[in-house]
Order: sequence, then structure tokens, then C-alpha cells
Amino acid sequence: MQPGSARDAGGPRTLTLTRPDDWHLHLRDGAVLQSVVLDSARQFGRAIIMPNLKPPVVTTADAQAYRDRILAALRQAGVPDGAFQPLMTLYLTDNTPPEEIRRARQSGLVHGVKLYPAGATTHSDAGVTDLLKHCRAALDAMQDCGMPLLVHGEVTDPDVDLFDREAVFIDRVMRPLRQAYPALKVVFEHLTTADGVAYVREASGPVAATITAHHLLYNRNALFKGGLRPHWYCLPVLKRERHRLALVDAATSGDARFFLGTDSAPHSRGAKEQDCGCAGCYTARHAMALYAAAFEAADRLDRLEAFASLNGPAFYGLPPNEGVLTLERVPERIPDALPLAGDEVVPLAAGESLAWRLQAR
Ligand code: NCD
Ligand code: ZN
Repeated sequence: MQPGSARDAGGPRTLTLTRPDDWHLHLRDGAVLQSVVLDSARQFGRAIIMPNLKPPVVTTADAQAYRDRILAALRQAGVPDGAFQPLMTLYLTDNTPPEEIRRARQSGLVHGVKLYPAGATTHSDAGVTDLLKHCRAALDAMQDCGMPLLVHGEVTDPDVDLFDREAVFIDRVMRPLRQAYPALKVVFEHLTTADGVAYVREASGPVAATITAHHLLYNRNALFKGGLRPHWYCLPVLKRERHRLALVDAATSGDARFFLGTDSAPHSRGAKEQDCGCAGCYTARHAMALYAAAFEAADRLDRLEAFASLNGPAFYGLPPNEGVLTLERVPERIPDALPLAGDEVVPLAAGESLAWRLQAR
């Protein structure tokens, strides 16, 4: 669908929510970090910062140093201290020691540990090769100290069809993992299928899922509309319409297990428009307007606040943000490109029109 195609007549003119959070965000580092950080800080109070840098963020000390660089970038962008809090994560490897998990928990700065199956996505070479074989001690420690495991839920077996990788992951990894660690907090990141929705809805114990704006707005036809469209390519890849509908149903259902995670993942235009282009969609600049479009199309704008501002903090054991965010019904065109560290990034849905924008302050 077109994000701006929601009914323009009728409906509220403004939409005020408890300040939302982004529970899955790639901020990168260095000059790219500096280019993108304000896009998130203008809308969100906090964000879970993914650790897939090169080299990855594997220790508490790495996470602290990365957090300091993010805080410096925020200061340089003119964001008042404390207005946007980066919630750090560690990148799980085959060798993450349990002491590192405890150190991370005690730091108070690390809020999750991310599982990247080796080879699953951008910068995942250092990822886990066999979770239940190599990571038992780390998983024990995480279950013990209440550290959430954030899961990129796709198998990497080349014999499994790309579009089936999430469904197969549920059977091969998620079910055995949760049987062995029933009290472990697990977030099924960037859920993309009806199978994933059914699993999260029905599972017993502390399981939740993030859902991106692009998986709510687009099905896999967007990848091939009029030709090959690299800026719609992300992992997990967009799925068929029946899966998109299941995600919309989950996000707008009011079920507290589902919450907002943009998975905004900037890559330069050149890194995407090439023979072997990178996976990742840049959605941070217009994130809340994109989510509002998806919720309005489902006639469920009234459920956006729970999804964007309340369910995530409840799962992570944090209070909702103080303060609010207001969107206004004023059409805004998504630019063809945005500056990215002396280069440019093409945002998702570039050139399309959105019905909502952030209220000017
Ligand atoms: C992410 C990236 O570029 O870091 N890409 C993506 O397609 N989502 C990695 C990820 O979250 O899988
Ligand atoms: Zn991601």
C-alpha cells in the first residue's frame, strides 16, 4: 500500500501519544552515527541499539564505549542530555562467557543480548553457529539474571528457502531454546510471518516481538514493483500479503507482546544499488508517520500508543517515558535522499507522501 493512501477526510487532525521508544535500531558509528542520530532522537525517548558494528559490541566495556560515542553524537546534534537514552546490547558469540552477562546486567546500561545466527544478515560473521551447543553457560546466566535474549529468528541453512527461514527457525531453534530455558525473556525481533505471530501469541512465558513499519506497510511485491527495488530489501525479507495482514492484526490487537522496533538500518545508496546490495531499510526519519499510516489503514489509530509507547517498556521492566509526541495531519513527501556521512541514503518509500508528520515545535 501507499503510506499516504489512508483516508484523509475525517479522523483526528492531531495524534498525541506518550513519547514512544524504538526497541530495535541500528545507529552505526562515527560519521554515519552523527548523520542519523537526530532522526531517532526527535521522535523516541529511548532505543535498543543493535550491536552489529564491525567489530561487534561483545563486552560491557565495548557497550559502554559505544554508548559514550552515541551520547557525544547526541550532544553534537544539540539534543539535551537525557532526552534520548540509548539502551545498549551485547552481540552473542559462541564464546560469550557467563561472567560477561553478569557484568552487563550489573552495569545497568546493557538491556539485552542479541543472537545473530552466523551469516544471517549484515555483519553477522561473528554470530552463533549452534546456540544450544555453544551458548549454554551464557543462556543460563541470562535466564538467571533476567537479561533478555533478542533474536534474529532466521535459520541460515542454504537448503531452506529464503522466505521460509523464520518459520523453520521456530521449529529448529525457538521451540528447543524455550523448552530448555522457559524463564528466559525472549524478543523475537522484526517478526515477518503469520507463523511467527501465532508462535508469539500462543507461547507460554516471557516472549514478545518487535514489528517494523515496513513489514506492516509492504508485502514482497514491493521488491519487484516495475523492476528490482533494492531500497525495499531488508532481512528478514518482506513476505507475502497474508503474512503482512497477520502482522497488522498482531500490532493493532492490543496484545502487549507486540511492540515497535523500526530496524532502521542505514546503508549508503552505493552499498544498496550494486551487484550484491546490502540488506536494510532506512526508516528512522519518518518512523512514527509510517507506523501511523499502517495503524490508520487498519482503522486502529487508537491502538498505536500501546504498541509504540507502553508494551515495550512493560516487557523490559522500565517505566513509560515522561512527555508526549504529537503528530499532525499535514502531508509530507519523503525526500528522494538524505545526507549520510558525506554520502547519501535513500529512505524507504522515497518520493511517496505521508499523511502524518511530527508537529513542529
Ligand atoms: C540490518 C543491518 O543492516 O544492520 N539489516 C537488515 O536488513 N535488517 C541487520 C539486521 O537487523 O538484520
Ligand atoms: Zn536489525
